[in-house]
Amino acid sequence: MLSAVESKLDTDQQTTYFRCIAGCSAKHSIYDVIYTCPSCGNLLEVHHEREPLKKRDANQWKQLFDSRASTSTWPYGSGVWGMREWVVPSLADENVVSMFEGNTNLFWAERLGQQLGVPDLWIKLCGNSHTGSFKDLGMTVLVSVVKQMMAQGSAVKAVACASTGDTSAALAAYAAYAGIPAVIFLPAGKVSTAQLIQPVANGAHVLALDTDFDGCMKIVQEVTKDNSIYLANSMNSLRIEGQKTVGIEIVRQFDWDVPDWIIIPVGNLGNISALHKGFQLMMDLGLITRMPRLVAAQTVRANPFYESFQNGFKEKVRVTAKDTLANAIRIGDPVSYEKAIKAIAATDGIVEQATENELAAAAAHADLTGMFTCPHTGVALAVLTKLIQRGVIKSSDKTVVISTAHGLKFTDFKVGYHESTLEEVTSQYANPAVHLPANADVVKAEIEKRLMH
Ligand SMILES: Cc1ncc(COP(=O)(O)O)c(C=O)c1O
Ligand SMILES: [Zn+2]
Repeated sequence: MLSAVESKLDTDQQTTYFRCIAGCSAKHSIYDVIYTCPSCGNLLEVHHEREPLKKRDANQWKQLFDSRASTSTWPYGSGVWGMREWVVPSLADENVVSMFEGNTNLFWAERLGQQLGVPDLWIKLCGNSHTGSFKDLGMTVLVSVVKQMMAQGSAVKAVACASTGDTSAALAAYAAYAGIPAVIFLPAGKVSTAQLIQPVANGAHVLALDTDFDGCMKIVQEVTKDNSIYLANSMNSLRIEGQKTVGIEIVRQFDWDVPDWIIIPVGNLGNISALHKGFQLMMDLGLITRMPRLVAAQTVRANPFYESFQNGFKEKVRVTAKDTLANAIRIGDPVSYEKAIKAIAATDGIVEQATENELAAAAAHADLTGMFTCPHTGVALAVLTKLIQRGVIKSSDKTVVISTAHGLKFTDFKVGYHESTLEEVTSQYANPAVHLPANADVVKAEIEKRLMH
């Protein structure tokens, strides 16, 4: 006989499971070590059957999520676990691995919006999180599921990922918090100092390989084939479950109002797929009645999704990604390509790109209004500027830019900009520190000179 708790967990597992994105009929337990469909090889997604969720109506869901947003009651103080019924309902409290991620600030970018001609401009600062990027949202879910798998006697011994820097920081931190060994594959010399030192400090086994991200991805897939090392990249759709809460959180922060546009920098395309998934769930359960238009922002130097969009998604374009200031989106063969096409199609979305000079200028401009933007956020802001100039985004539109990482992880980029040493970048907003003798008259003269400008 199952206890009441066991029987509830059993039911939750029946209604939340992995299924193939191409429509194959099999259901797989989210506690199985499985990343792709055994029949057709496509990616899986976590599916939540809608009928059981409809036992609460839209208003009840809103009230429940609102009530948890400011609590410290375990595990609801996390923006992700505050929506646990929509994420992994069958996860036991004791296996939640959380550092109260999510609930990041969504603030009105008043001066920047005015200067750009879109006064209703908002920035969702996902970088204000435990490891400094939105990756924490997905990693709390993945590592929690692994903890539950291990508690139930799974053969998994460790977790592993390939990374452009932020995924590895998040995996290393959450794995260390849970006491699970982590193996990290980084492209040697292609991540920032802060990104490299994060997994090192958290005790992960850090392997810097002489290849790019796409090369690291191939190796990690090989290494995780024997199922004792669990793959933590976003081709593992558990990550998407956590990341999808960011869209729900934005709408909640707007008192359940949907913005007209959400712009997000993309690489492997997990993030935009996740945004769409969260919005689709809210639509299906009646919490919202329309979709925002999603904009995927790429760097010109790693733009396969932009090129595919240009050909009407007739063909998947792969590129060899080139060096870029936006190193975390230096990805040439995005894994979540099919999911991201759905996201663009379902939201009348757009894919646009930005050059090194455009992303650096957009980031520096935003910083002058009080931000401290990472280069990826610079890509999104540059794309915003283009869409305004083209008349696609109108002055009355409510627009959200998702800032995906904290600028403090990318100080090399900032220093290079203000010292005017970045390649392909004209540092029009350079504001280097002024070195002076300790002499009050000299100092006063210098301040006066600046104030006159
Ligand atoms: C800071 C930052 N922005 C954007 C992205 C792009 O996210 P995704 O790879 O899911 O498209 C990443 C990770 O790749 C990132 O680390
Ligand atoms: Zn399939």
